Amino acid sequence: MRILAFESSCDDTAVAVTEGRRVIASKTASQVEEHILYGGVVPEIASRRHIEAISNLYTTVMTEANLTLDDIDAIAVTYAPGLIGSLLVGVGFAKGLAFAANKPLIPVHHLRSHIAANYITGADLKPPFLALVVSGGHSHLVDVSDYTTFKVIGRTRDDAAGECFDKTGRAMGLPYPGGVHLDKIADNGDSSKYLLPKPHVEGNPLDFSFSGLKTAVINLLHNAQQKGEEIICEDVAASVRKTVCDILIDRTFKALDTLPYKTLVIAGGVSANSELRRRMTEECEKRGIDLYIPDLSLCGDNAAMVGVQGYYEYQSGKTANADLNAYATMDIQNPVY
Ligand code: KG4
Ligand code: ZN
Repeated sequence: MRILAFESSCDDTAVAVTEGRRVIASKTASQVEEHILYGGVVPEIASRRHIEAISNLYTTVMTEANLTLDDIDAIAVTYAPGLIGSLLVGVGFAKGLAFAANKPLIPVHHLRSHIAANYITGADLKPPFLALVVSGGHSHLVDVSDYTTFKVIGRTRDDAAGECFDKTGRAMGLPYPGGVHLDKIADNGDSSKYLLPKPHVEGNPLDFSFSGLKTAVINLLHNAQQKGEEIICEDVAASVRKTVCDILIDRTFKALDTLPYKTLVIAGGVSANSELRRRMTEECEKRGIDLYIPDLSLCGDNAAMVGVQGYYEYQSGKTANADLNAYATMDIQNPVY
């Protein structure tokens, strides 16, 4: 089954054609150069850039795949969660094509698609497994018992891991997105230089909290500035990266202890983090866990993962009508559309 897929939930416009788990063509137009000027994503600018880019990107991908709409069996689109103005561009475009060409329209949840990026990289991966989903807006531990059956067993109570990286990176004066740049400079820093807080959350031992860590780093930088003390940003970055990884690794293996699974999947933009990839690989080897992490090119937002999850959503009978809407927030377990 050939699927034409669209993704526009944040600041990447992406189009792909997939067949089952195979990627036929996939392209992403990043807006990062423009948002860098403002230190973060400006929602209105993101929507405007999506509407400018999406049509040409669609033509480019179809030309590269050497296909026409007649060769496509269904159209999949990210409809939630994300920036509402951004999502509406992809949903509107996908809907127009689906109904003009009389093809089924498949609504895809953004975090479900991040998990599905692993079906592309890991050809043999099958549920059930535990997924650690870490992006700019979410940090979830998800029991994935089937391709379309998800149960959140741990979640952040406040900031997401990516948000913590982005905001502490920004406080250090790093360009947007802070997480990417923080990861690079941390390689040259001493991670034992600063002891940062690892807050425990009352109630569910599998939940995360990153806002205290973010505030501690911002205070550390402000206090040093006020006292005229020199701060080595590489050391702060290395300490933040280590602390975030310590927290993610601790909760992930606690979660695995509660499940009968021997397979762990990491997904979302933060799965590109070099320390997280290295330490998770070492820990999983030690514990006899099969680990899947997407190829670096599939960690961030892309449409290939939307096509692959769309394939499984379609198999489970999920298609939308002409009244499909976009939603800024949406539960991964029981998404409505
Ligand atoms: O999944 P994603 O591309 O977009 C959302 O759905 O949010 O994730 C973006 C997040 C940003 O917070 C970005 O800083 C973070 O992923 N990120 C990283 C790295 N690459 C991207 N964080 C840490 N280390 C990286 N190498
Ligand atoms: Zn994402």
